[in-house]
Amino acid sequence: MTIEQYIETTMKESSDPVCAYVYDLNQLRRHAETLKQSLPSFCRLFYAVKANPDQRVLETLGPIVDGFEAASEGEIRKAGRIGSHSILFGAPGKKDREIEAAIRKEVEYINIESFHDLNRVNEIAGNMGAVLPVLIRVNLRKDVPESHHMMAGTPTQFGVDEEDLPLLIQTAEKRKNLVIHGFHFHAMSNNLDAEKHMKFIQTCVEKTKAWREKYNLEVKVVDVGGGVGINYWNPSEPFNWEELAAGITNFEAEMDGLKLILELGRFMTAGCGSYVTEVLDVKTNHQRPFALIRGGSHHLRLPAAWKMSHPFRIHKIEGWRYSFERPGVRQRAVTIAGELCTPNDVLVREQPVEELRAGDVIIFEYAGAYAWTISHHEFLSHPHPDMVYIDRS
Ligand SMILES: Cc1ncc(COP(=O)(O)O)c(C=O)c1O
Repeated sequence: MTIEQYIETTMKESSDPVCAYVYDLNQLRRHAETLKQSLPSFCRLFYAVKANPDQRVLETLGPIVDGFEAASEGEIRKAGRIGSHSILFGAPGKKDREIEAAIRKEVEYINIESFHDLNRVNEIAGNMGAVLPVLIRVNLRKDVPESHHMMAGTPTQFGVDEEDLPLLIQTAEKRKNLVIHGFHFHAMSNNLDAEKHMKFIQTCVEKTKAWREKYNLEVKVVDVGGGVGINYWNPSEPFNWEELAAGITNFEAEMDGLKLILELGRFMTAGCGSYVTEVLDVKTNHQRPFALIRGGSHHLRLPAAWKMSHPFRIHKIEGWRYSFERPGVRQRAVTIAGELCTPNDVLVREQPVEELRAGDVIIFEYAGAYAWTISHHEFLSHPHPDMVYIDRS
């Protein structure tokens, strides 16, 4: 089945407007395999569950990735259902029961994000009779490339300030129920520059080697997090993954026995998902054309959150079910808005279209990551979109 076949079949079967997330699991499988095969054996590929925790998505990735990065007890549970995979658990504000769940699930590493986090994880591990391998999440002071969202290189709620690291390591060495196995550096979201990403990885490895030496640690792992981006503004110029994979491969001699961990979210799943919605109305307001769709930012919040136009294509529908004139625009820059009662419910701002009519269907591409999962589904109590899976079986 293709997306277009799904649209045509659904429109024949129901008079309700089309509204669905369509996940192409074949595309996801091929993409994930390509990523995995391009990386050397010293680099482990994890999937950040938060990008899209859909069960079928996780099941598809399960046989391909080295494990899952989980940021809550719920994500630990979802990743745990996929089988005997390595799980990394990290969150800036952890609850005691989450730490207990992570210990019971025998996650491979827990991130430490502050002094209090260190003490709490140590005490809970002690109460449960465990000695935990941990990664210290560091908020670097500099050398973090500029990108859409910055989690490090700037004051944020994430990780331990690089300046506090000596004291934190000293404190950790006095704690009996945790062992430092490495450092975690997730620092940015949606970086589009492969060369800068490689430089960031080099910085993380150099820092880790220096701290290993200076503090005489048994460090094994450098976790550089995710942050590889999707070019929503110009999809024909994507992040140069081949350049990054080659850069990592050529870096083997510098790793000095360390393992590298990537935790990809957006770059793994964005491309497999499409949000497919029917145009309900087309009108002009203050001389500007607007198309209103079934659905909106309560299903796909990303463009409203980032104040951007989401990439889309139009699937034309030739039939028209009413007796009166079909509204539409030709050769205009159109704004595509949703069905909510807020002017923020905009998915596309003044983008040129050849023709767009009520009853046509818009396919929003790159909607497989931080899309449905970050949206406020219950606002206005509209029905949820269908979840549709294109799979070989
Ligand atoms: C700790 C951690 N790892 C990995 C990721 C995934 O990042 P991305 O989706 O940008 O690849 C995130 C996202 O916020 C994160 O917080």
